[in-house]
Amino acid sequence: MLTSVARRRFAPFVALAAAAWFAAAAQAQPKSRADCEAIYKPQVGQSGKDVVWVPTPDELVTRMLRMAKTTAKDFVIDLGAGDGKIAIAAAKQFGARSLGIEYNPDMVKFANCLVQVEGVADKTRIVQGDIFKEDFSKADVVTMYLLPELNLCVRHRVLAMKPGTRVTSHQFTMGDWAPDETAEVDYRSAYLWIVPARVGGTWLFREAGGPSFTVTLSQTFQKISGEVLQAGNRQPLVGATLSGERISFAFNDPKGVTRTFHGTVRGNEMTGTLRAAGGAETPVTATLQGRPADAPWAQMAAGCERFYK
Ligand SMILES: C[S@@+](CC[C@H](N)C(=O)[O-])C[C@H]1O[C@@H](n2cnc3c(N)ncnc32)[C@H](O)[C@@H]1O
Repeated sequence: MLTSVARRRFAPFVALAAAAWFAAAAQAQPKSRADCEAIYKPQVGQSGKDVVWVPTPDELVTRMLRMAKTTAKDFVIDLGAGDGKIAIAAAKQFGARSLGIEYNPDMVKFANCLVQVEGVADKTRIVQGDIFKEDFSKADVVTMYLLPELNLCVRHRVLAMKPGTRVTSHQFTMGDWAPDETAEVDYRSAYLWIVPARVGGTWLFREAGGPSFTVTLSQTFQKISGEVLQAGNRQPLVGATLSGERISFAFNDPKGVTRTFHGTVRGNEMTGTLRAAGGAETPVTATLQGRPADAPWAQMAAGCERFYK
């Protein structure tokens, strides 16, 4: 405890120190990109750990986030965040929470400086880390501008994320996983993938008030095909589609009536409706019988081990 004499003696120094601290803090608060560049000025093309820094143009950033149907409910993670512009745009334009993972520590400081300048520090953070070591599994939307090989080598981790997660990449694809959507802005491409639910295997369908039947599904990424077995009659599925958790297909029943299923996949269960042309919808549930089919397409691609050592 300071005595009242000591308090009186030190009061001027305390006031001076406080004034100096407030002045320094006010000066340290960056107001513009130039303020951030005064501390560190990145150069386009500067080397990064696995890929150089080249920023995605503003318009394409917006397009990528729009393609991914980003909303304020989403958590967006940019892999290889550079100056943080995708993470910042996700917060500023779409109200999302966002995180950028960037390997270069100077770039991380610079990006966090821009986060402050853009006034999104309550929603956005850029962290120093290696995309091959950091966990990004909690994201609803993943964005990247990397290289084909890097995309391929994070692909198995993306495919292990919750069905419906949206992934968007500037310029580079993901090997043989065809995108769900492609966009072009000023001759630059952006791609969107939606993480598909795992549906490969045999499913027992139960229709309210109707006969049960089995559907065997083969799956490679979001591409599905299969056949239905009903009262000893086998029929191919027609127009089968899978988008995240949403699944649809049609087939002819043993009476030759075309029936269409629309449903939602939740783990080993599906729920949805069946409708005959011109008829009413009836509720259906389905349960996976036995083990899910193997999914070699979801495994780590050959040659990627070196990134994970
Ligand atoms: C092409 S830039 C893209 C920057 C930003 N995402 C954009 O689209 O504007 C790629 C960034 O990834 C960073 N990077 C390279 N290898 C990385 C790694 N293994 N982990 C994290 N960041 C990495 C680089 O430093 C660079 O800033």
